[in-house]
Amino acid sequence: MGFPVRLHRRQASKEDPITGELHFFAYSPFAPHLTYYIASADGEIRHQRVVDGAGPSLMHDFGLTANYVVWLDMSVVFDHAETSGIPYRWSDSYAPRIGLLPRSDNGPVRWYEVDPGALLHVSNTYEDDDGRVVVEGPRFDRSAWETSWKWWIGAPGHPTNPNGGALQYRYAIDPTGTRAREDLLDDLITDFPTINGDYLGRRNRYSYAVAFPGSGHDRIGIIKYDNDTGARVLASTGPGRVPGEAVFVSAADATAEDDDYLLTLVGDPATATSELLILDARDFTADPLAAVRLPRRVPGGTHGSWIAD
Ligand SMILES: [Fe+2]
Repeated sequence: MGFPVRLHRRQASKEDPITGELHFFAYSPFAPHLTYYIASADGEIRHQRVVDGAGPSLMHDFGLTANYVVWLDMSVVFDHAETSGIPYRWSDSYAPRIGLLPRSDNGPVRWYEVDPGALLHVSNTYEDDDGRVVVEGPRFDRSAWETSWKWWIGAPGHPTNPNGGALQYRYAIDPTGTRAREDLLDDLITDFPTINGDYLGRRNRYSYAVAFPGSGHDRIGIIKYDNDTGARVLASTGPGRVPGEAVFVSAADATAEDDDYLLTLVGDPATATSELLILDARDFTADPLAAVRLPRRVPGGTHGSWIAD
């Protein structure tokens, strides 16, 4: 079996930018709850392993670092009594954890306690200069999760966008310890984080995400975080115009991490149309380099991907 295209999606499956291998997983409410796979660059499954100790939680993303695979076994858990059509529900009694599985050998996975929370997507995972494993991404608390849930299942009175309150967090795990340190990085509601895929698994300076209205502001757009300075910059997409995941596309002659383009589909409910915006990732708040108008509206606020020709 061979993959017909080079895959650029970073979540659910991840292409190691160094080896070209594709890492992915299967999860299930029933044991074995979590199975990890690696496919070679030419599409052959070369590794398959059940991850011991994982539970029946909603696992929507994972992470790679130089030495570990990072698993998220957190507070949204399979519940057969949840009849909305998606049988998962927030649980205050489930013990949320992050797992580190060594990449280099068949060593055991180790699990680290975290506060109640749920990450659907990670911005990036990497090891810092002190050997700690860092996990960054938008974290839901119970209220944020349950608000977003209403949108996902189409419940009456659901919010107008899919994110009811996830905030950017950084987890830092000392592999010799038992518990992750957690730091809130920003007060804007974000989701669908992206980075320059060449930095997957190693420290990235920049990350991007969709900013949703809420928590006391009405700004909608694409946000750019600078991990070196702590700065954030918001490229507004205009009132009511909800963008989708901003996919990073490197320039052919790229020389810097933020060189060069972000692509996002922006839906405009007022005109029932959408635009594909091409933003300059460095000159982030300038007018888009291009805006391609689409004849139909593509619902905003969801995933995107880019496949080069
Ligand atoms: Fe997702």
